[in-house]
Amino acid sequence: MNSSNTCRVCGNEISPFMSFGKMPIANGFLNEIDFKNEYFFEMKPSFCENCFAFQLIDQPDAPMMFNENYPFFSSLSKHMQVHFKNFADQLISNFLRTKEDSFVIELGSNDGIMLKHFKNSGIPHLGIEPSKNVADVAKKEGINTISEFFNENLADHILEKHGKANIIFAANVMCHIPDLNSVFAGIAKLLTEDGILAFEDPYLGDMLEKVSYDQIYDEHIYIFSASSVSSLCERHDLELIDVIPQPTHGGSMRYFITHKGSHKISKNVHQILENEEKNGFKDPTTYIRFKNNCEQSKKDLVSLLEKIKSEKKRVVGYGATSKSTTILNYSGIGNDLIEFISDTTPLKQNKYSPGAHIPVRSYEEFKKNPPDYALLFAWNHSNEIFEKEKDFEKNGGKWIRFVPKVEIF
Ligand code: TYD
Ligand code: ZN
Repeated sequence: MNSSNTCRVCGNEISPFMSFGKMPIANGFLNEIDFKNEYFFEMKPSFCENCFAFQLIDQPDAPMMFNENYPFFSSLSKHMQVHFKNFADQLISNFLRTKEDSFVIELGSNDGIMLKHFKNSGIPHLGIEPSKNVADVAKKEGINTISEFFNENLADHILEKHGKANIIFAANVMCHIPDLNSVFAGIAKLLTEDGILAFEDPYLGDMLEKVSYDQIYDEHIYIFSASSVSSLCERHDLELIDVIPQPTHGGSMRYFITHKGSHKISKNVHQILENEEKNGFKDPTTYIRFKNNCEQSKKDLVSLLEKIKSEKKRVVGYGATSKSTTILNYSGIGNDLIEFISDTTPLKQNKYSPGAHIPVRSYEEFKKNPPDYALLFAWNHSNEIFEKEKDFEKNGGKWIRFVPKVEIF
């Protein structure tokens, strides 16, 4: 257990502003035989008034989450494939002067969904992916990958072996890493003088606004804002030079970071910092309001599901997301209210959802026996899903969503 009553970034004393109660490993889909050994931790978010980092107090140790059973394969979503191709193209055209003489590193390269575009362009690259099973998929595709956790120590080794990197990037990875100071110290060493760090993660502003508290789970130890990223950069003589909002993962932010003074700071950065200040991101009462909103959202969802049950209608979950683990366990929703969860990931199918123990079934079962209501756990893929599910709607199926508010549509 990685537990801290002081801020992981700046060492300031912190305390939780709420508790979501006992939570299992969000991606820990399991067999019945393992129910009795299931691991739980208390999920308590906190906010640092000194460096503005929104973070979890307790977090399971990394190997409990990222191991050879990690069931998350980025390439399964078509829209995410397009998203990452665009991200790769943007980096190549804006930040690489030559292809062959460059070197790019991806932290948390998963199955190579993004790095393959660098490989295909003949750009020297290295992926760092601690979950061995997904790293192996990338290696099979010829993408240079090592199965390790990135930190300052590993940065020293990479520097020795490969030299400095022109671009370091990460998508939905930075917010997973407890010791950000070690990671940023490593990045500061590895980046060339005019090199760029680009990373994106779910954005605190979207979460507060949409009450999408399902962004908080064991892997997401931080939910970043530009204010917190900027403060972290300062500690390492780095500088936030641009931010670009992204629609992915229910609202994300892409951050561009360089050595201090090496690039011009875009006006987007000044603007977002001002907005965050104005919208109370640095004010503890904002988080009390968020807590109240979470409680209301939970009550609304449970009463809606209970009403549907009393009408003897069927509800099936759509997408066994990590996010759904927070919703289900915080709300105490189990197999009595949701018949099963449909998911396209083979590794999750025929297992049970973490903590709530709702069966996970293949998408074919959803198609074969469509429910009256589909509870949209994978709401971040709404567009892709609605395109695919025209028949479900045509045949009278209804959706339930809980972001930005609980409703049937
Ligand atoms: P993901 O978006 O990665 O969310 P999280 O980060 O919370 O885990 O997960 C999406 C899940 O939904 C994944 O398990 C695949 C599944 N899924 C479907 O079953 N059908 C679909 O059409 C889509 C887009 C996703
Ligand atoms: Zn702090």
